[in-house]
Amino acid sequence: MEKFLPACLLVVLMLGIQPAIIEGANILGVFNSHSPSHVIVNMAVAKTLADRGHNITVLTQMKPKFQPHENITVIVALPTPERERITKEYMAQMSSQQKSSWSFLAKLFVRSSPILDGQYEWTQHPRVKAIYENPQTKYDLVILGLMLNDFQLGFAAKLRCPVILSWVGIPMPLMDSQVGNIDDPAYVPSLNVALEPGQLTMGFGMRFVNFFKHSFLKIVDVFMRQKMNDYYNGAFGNDSDPEFPSYYEMKRRISLLFYNYHGPSEGPIRPTVPQSIEIGGIQVKEKPDPLPKDLAEFLDNSTEGAILFSLGTNARFTDIRPQIVKVLYNVLSKLPQLVVWKWEDMENTPGNASNIYFSKWLPQDDILAHPKTRLFITHAGKGGIAEAQFHGVPMLAFPIFGDQPGNAELMAKSGFGLHLDILTLTEDVLEETIRELLQNPTYAASVGRFSALYRDRPLTARQSVVYWTEYVLRHQGAYHLQSPRLHMGIVARHNLDVYGTLVLVGLVTLLILRLAFRYVFHNVLGAVRGHCYRTKATNKKPKDKLF
Ligand SMILES: *[C@@H]1O[C@H](CO)[C@@H](O)[C@H](O)[C@H]1NC(C)=O
Ligand SMILES: *[C@@H]1O[C@H](CO)[C@@H](O)[C@H](O)[C@H]1NC(C)=O
Ligand SMILES: *[C@@H]1O[C@H](CO)[C@@H](O)[C@H](O)[C@H]1NC(C)=O
Ligand SMILES: *[C@@H]1O[C@H](CO)[C@@H](O)[C@H](O)[C@H]1NC(C)=O
Ligand SMILES: *[C@@H]1O[C@H](CO)[C@@H](O)[C@H](O)[C@H]1NC(C)=O
Repeated sequence: MEKFLPACLLVVLMLGIQPAIIEGANILGVFNSHSPSHVIVNMAVAKTLADRGHNITVLTQMKPKFQPHENITVIVALPTPERERITKEYMAQMSSQQKSSWSFLAKLFVRSSPILDGQYEWTQHPRVKAIYENPQTKYDLVILGLMLNDFQLGFAAKLRCPVILSWVGIPMPLMDSQVGNIDDPAYVPSLNVALEPGQLTMGFGMRFVNFFKHSFLKIVDVFMRQKMNDYYNGAFGNDSDPEFPSYYEMKRRISLLFYNYHGPSEGPIRPTVPQSIEIGGIQVKEKPDPLPKDLAEFLDNSTEGAILFSLGTNARFTDIRPQIVKVLYNVLSKLPQLVVWKWEDMENTPGNASNIYFSKWLPQDDILAHPKTRLFITHAGKGGIAEAQFHGVPMLAFPIFGDQPGNAELMAKSGFGLHLDILTLTEDVLEETIRELLQNPTYAASVGRFSALYRDRPLTARQSVVYWTEYVLRHQGAYHLQSPRLHMGIVARHNLDVYGTLVLVGLVTLLILRLAFRYVFHNVLGAVRGHCYRTKATNKKPKDKLF
């Protein structure tokens, strides 16, 4: 019996150590962004938690394109037609003038932005208001999709529950400040400061520029807080309730910040606090689903590997000039590889080559995961590139519009593939490029290295979302993770009082030393000098005599 006692104890201890299992929490996702790509990422977070058995309610301003889930209730609050028109005009104006995000941010100083006003207006929509003024469900947690809208922390204030922020991109100053990430401009690149792949540090010129961008964003941050404070008070404030937390108080009650980013593979390495959780690639499926039977057979049959060709959902081949389609078909149909080609009009395929499989709908992610897939020909949308990087498939990009040229450039710079202009494509160039991508092993090696690093983590992106969300639920907000920096005023945060004291002590010491020297000079040196003078004076006469 005694022999078993330690073992029993161990079992008891282990049971005790097991974290309590959190079941079926009610979680509210506030995904107010007007950008579909933001909603896709945030919905992936919601779906992860729903798969785990939590009850998710999502508030958005657009109907997200995804399959209905039994544990997700989506509440859509559309913006007013007037607001929609203003936003559209504003976005069109921004993109036609090639305005950068800098001028967007700079404008926030001068006048209010239609985007921000729209986000405020949205919180006043009756369906949205009903959630926080008159909740029918007791919510345990709010997940707020972040996009210059942190006044919406008011949802968590109203519902009296913890809040997790979710940012869909790489860390950037306005998001870092939410949790107090270290943003030393000497080595942490600011917004739009892109290091070359593999570049570790910034040279003088780059650091100089980085310093100014960093400082500019710091100033934007200060203005932004004031603006957000006004929105917060307007939307959620309650003067008759002295207990109601202020905007600044809510900023100190943020439980976590999710970043759709993975430092070790995407780089650069930056210092982050324990409240920053990397969930890079959350929108990428971790385990492929089985392919449709005929497609699986087609791919399994290939001896030379396969190529996936898809220009996404927006660009259709019917929009592309027939000569270009002919160029593409002529080259692809002569390859020894199999080609899976996303093609809308199945009645009118460009040809009947036996090595090409045309289909209107393709499970892109699952095809990229297939071991026979050797090349992805893509329009360089962010989602597709992320999937190919995850699965380690080299790419040939035909960027068409929007952010695609930038994505293609970065992908090629990273050594994951090449890009071509589809409008001026010739058979020779295409054939040459495809041959280079398939025969030169460096592309597959680079993207393979990235893929290996990207997947090598203690918890996958989905596991991180589940673990850390439940951690917050288990520990009533997990505020113990917070950086002390969040709770410091600007003077203490920058140690100004300590430096000031040191300077003061230094000055006082100097003063005392000076007085002491003076005293010594006058009383001691003075006496010595008096003595010298007298001796000099007595020596003077004989000297004079020499002349
Ligand atoms: C929904 O949640 C329940 C538990 O509340 C869980 O058993 C079920 O698997 C979830 N559904 C899906 C599709 O994951
Ligand atoms: C799940 O959330 C919805 C609100 O979106 C609510 O109506 C429903 O009662 C919740 N289910 C459970 C089991 O709490
Ligand atoms: C404001 O606070 C008071 C006191 O707590 C409360 O009775 C009232 O319902 C609140 N008003 C709103 C709009 O939340
Ligand atoms: C795969 O190969 C087998 C035998 O070589 C052949 O019978 C079959 O038709 C092929 N399937 C496809 C989809 O090409
Ligand atoms: C491909 O085959 C189908 C049916 O066999 C035929 O109707 C069509 O004209 C062919 N297309 C081309 C481009 O040869």
